[in-house]
Amino acid sequence: MNILILGSGGREHALAWAFRQNPKCDRLFVAPGNAGIAAVAECVAIDILSRAAVLEFAQENAVDFVVIGPEAPLAAGVSDALRDAGFLVFGPSQAAAQLEASKGFTKEICDACGAPTAAWARFDDAVAARAHVEAQGAPIVVKADGLAAGKGVTVAETVPQALAAIDAIFDGEFGETSVVIEEFMQGEEASFFVLCDGETCLPIGTAQDHKRVGEGDTGPNTGGMGAYSPAPVLTDAIQRQVMDQIVTPTMAEMAARGTPFQGVLFVGLMIDQGRGRLVEYNVRFGDPECQVLMMRLGAQALDLIHACAEGRLDGMQVNWADDHALTVVMAADGYPSAYEKGSIIKGLSDLPEDGFNMVFHAGTTQRDGVLIASGGRVLACTGRGDTLIQAHARAYALVDRIDWPEGFCRGDIGWRALGS
Ligand code: AMP
Ligand code: GLY
Repeated sequence: MNILILGSGGREHALAWAFRQNPKCDRLFVAPGNAGIAAVAECVAIDILSRAAVLEFAQENAVDFVVIGPEAPLAAGVSDALRDAGFLVFGPSQAAAQLEASKGFTKEICDACGAPTAAWARFDDAVAARAHVEAQGAPIVVKADGLAAGKGVTVAETVPQALAAIDAIFDGEFGETSVVIEEFMQGEEASFFVLCDGETCLPIGTAQDHKRVGEGDTGPNTGGMGAYSPAPVLTDAIQRQVMDQIVTPTMAEMAARGTPFQGVLFVGLMIDQGRGRLVEYNVRFGDPECQVLMMRLGAQALDLIHACAEGRLDGMQVNWADDHALTVVMAADGYPSAYEKGSIIKGLSDLPEDGFNMVFHAGTTQRDGVLIASGGRVLACTGRGDTLIQAHARAYALVDRIDWPEGFCRGDIGWRALGS
């Protein structure tokens, strides 16, 4: 099977790495890819937001299966264009991708199927939104309605903060003209990943990430500075509750509306008093959550993802090892604000690369035989072991051997589960 993966981050490196281990994978293309991905796949420089460019590449290169990594091509309808042309695709339609692209849409679905989530209201003008916040008080959560690259959410501790967030949204900071205001939910956050083929749902793992840039979960939000799997807070009982009350009803509601969801549903949860409530859906794997999931699933990831795309999840099962994985993101100094590109990274060539130790690349480029940092999040040092302590030790041992003075990482990834 010739496979094309769309994307260029650590998530796509982890997918490519796992697929490569499966004998069903023949040619493997990643568009646009990065320097690490180039070691396991053929990187191709096409615009992955262009339906025409992706379609033309797939047609000309005998691609059998397309796996879409990030949300932007999904929201742009690239999966629809490929499916219309007869290609097998992993990733939801543009209509189903609204579960991530529109917070208001997700809230309507939750209301329609009774899924537990924060109480909410949507406003198209600042005056009404401000009045609502004044009436509710703080803490309260203000969200730009659209994708906003994960940056349109303010968890406001005070009413003035919430009002400022509303003004920023209506001043056009995120290109959105409507705002969703939510009840603040207390608890511990965790993520649950479920493959859905439109009918059948198959859980493939839990994870917790670290969104803040600073140790002790301080400082601005990032795309994610590290993650581990499994997430102990998502007990088997809570996973069952989430499947019964949130995932299965949502999937049934999507199917009933004529827009069945096919792909991976990334269920962001708030866990409190032994139950999970929905914070958000994403319609793709998380980054860096994918790195820890792929490290644990290995070659079977391709079988599961392929079965999902073909509508064959019924009868599939995950072969779980009793293992743990942890990943530490190394980022360029300054991230998530302005950062320099072009610094040199050394020490990667003699590191172990196996099922227990992997450095996945995110923002890297190879220039004249030298590895260059070319993004904000640059590497994801990933360890797997029988215990989280072992996975943690392996991941940080990789970090210690990387020679990159212009990069940094958090030293406390996994603190919640490690109890330190
Ligand atoms: P979202 O993009 O919707 O996932 O929001 C980003 C982050 O904001 C989440 O990961 C939570 O940490 C926080 N957040 C969002 N909604 C709420 C809520 N209703 N209550 C508490 N925290 C929230
Ligand atoms: N790490 C969070 C995300 O991928 O959205």
